[in-house]
Amino acid sequence: MEVVILAAGKGSRMFSDKPKVLHSIGGSAMLEHVVRTSRALHPQKIHTVIGFGAQQIKDYFARSNTADLTWVLQAEQLGTGHAVQQALPGINIEDGENQVLVLYGDVPLIQTSTLQELLSQTDGETLALLTVLTENPTGLGRIIRNTAGEVTRIVEERDANSEQKQINEVNSGIMCVPATKLVRWLGEIRNDNDQSEYYLTDLIALAADENCQINAITLADEIEVQGVNDKTQLALLERHYQMNKQQELLDQGVTLRDPERVEVRGELSCGKDCVVDINVIFEGTVSLGNNVVIGANTVIKDAVIEDGAHVLPGTNIDGATIGANSLIGPYARIRPGTVLGANVKIGNFVETKNAILGEGSKANHLAYIGDAEIGRNCNIGAGTIFCNYDGANKHKSTLGDNVFIGSNSVLVAPVVLANNAFVAAGSAVNCDVPADSLAVARSKQRNIPDWKRPTKGQ
Ligand code: UD1
Ligand code: CA
Repeated sequence: MEVVILAAGKGSRMFSDKPKVLHSIGGSAMLEHVVRTSRALHPQKIHTVIGFGAQQIKDYFARSNTADLTWVLQAEQLGTGHAVQQALPGINIEDGENQVLVLYGDVPLIQTSTLQELLSQTDGETLALLTVLTENPTGLGRIIRNTAGEVTRIVEERDANSEQKQINEVNSGIMCVPATKLVRWLGEIRNDNDQSEYYLTDLIALAADENCQINAITLADEIEVQGVNDKTQLALLERHYQMNKQQELLDQGVTLRDPERVEVRGELSCGKDCVVDINVIFEGTVSLGNNVVIGANTVIKDAVIEDGAHVLPGTNIDGATIGANSLIGPYARIRPGTVLGANVKIGNFVETKNAILGEGSKANHLAYIGDAEIGRNCNIGAGTIFCNYDGANKHKSTLGDNVFIGSNSVLVAPVVLANNAFVAAGSAVNCDVPADSLAVARSKQRNIPDWKRPTKGQ
């Protein structure tokens, strides 16, 4: 079996410079969902027909391994039949048993299990078609059956008479066709219809005319084959996708304070007894250990959060590991390259970037910790700034264990503070501090006795 995914259309009703299939559902382009679903079927090849925004589509996929994808260019969009035809040169038609499964880049929620059922309906001789019953068939191809209930053809809305328009069994577009027959039938399709397009759907009548068996599977769930043509449909599918994700989390035993206010835009795995408050967004790949608590209004991207950690409200985490039983936030910003050991405390308005903090270390208030390697049980006082950037290059600060940085200090990197070093508040540290030493790097206080305060006027 080989898959052909149609994705050449512009999607004018999206009113976007981006090709339609790159608009995302759950954080991934619609086309990426279809590619993933295709891969799960282990086809011989996946051909993707692109046209509008072809380069943008290739660029999007360039960030992942696409060795198994063949790009087929359909320079002019002359219809779905024409689109499939463009992929034919790459399809194996020598093997009489090869089949071609046609999918759509703008039908992102189709499930592997449904496609497996469809594929079980074909044997190299028969054609399998996925249809759906809908309350509102407007705009879709109607399934025409004979008195024996067999599918005989598909009539597009614009070519349908008023009687045919009453039919509420419609074409999903998804079908599986024997490869050798596909080649022959596509060669016979004409564009003598209302849109002067080559319709893939005309293939059904050609098959029926030569008594080829057509096995139609009728889906009850419209959403699975719902296409996206505008932002309303995109939003609708996003809600359905999120509802499924929320349900999966609940089924695994995650406590969601309000399931509708949790979004998963990627892959989220959770241990036991995790609690997620409202307005939380998970992006990329996130894993939560056991007993993790995520507070309200947080965004967590590409992160590992270990057992018992608490993320307090308003916190933003991106590209980080949070050690067991750590306490993060409220209002902390944890940026890429942050690795926190167990029992670390990062408080409000603290930003970390490329920073390693050992077990039990704390930065409780108002600090910037960038390019730092910090040992265990250190205390970073309020207002501490790690000056890691000299305007051209980044430099590193290294702190041993049990280092104390008094409030409102700056560490001008590169600088090394050995075990038990102590920095007086308000210091500008620009040389290394040996172990067990106090560094006072501020001007000495001078008191002027009997100081007369200025008075107003004169
Ligand atoms: C198509 C079906 C219709 C079905 C509906 C389901 C045809 C003629 N009609 O109608 O029976 O009910 O899907 O959503 O097949 N595409 C290309 N190249 C082209 C034309 C289209 O790649 O030259 C792609 C589009 O990008 C899109 C898909 O094929 O992803 C469907 O094309 P579209 O024009 O939207 O067909 P519909 O009118 O929706
Ligand atoms: Ca469509």
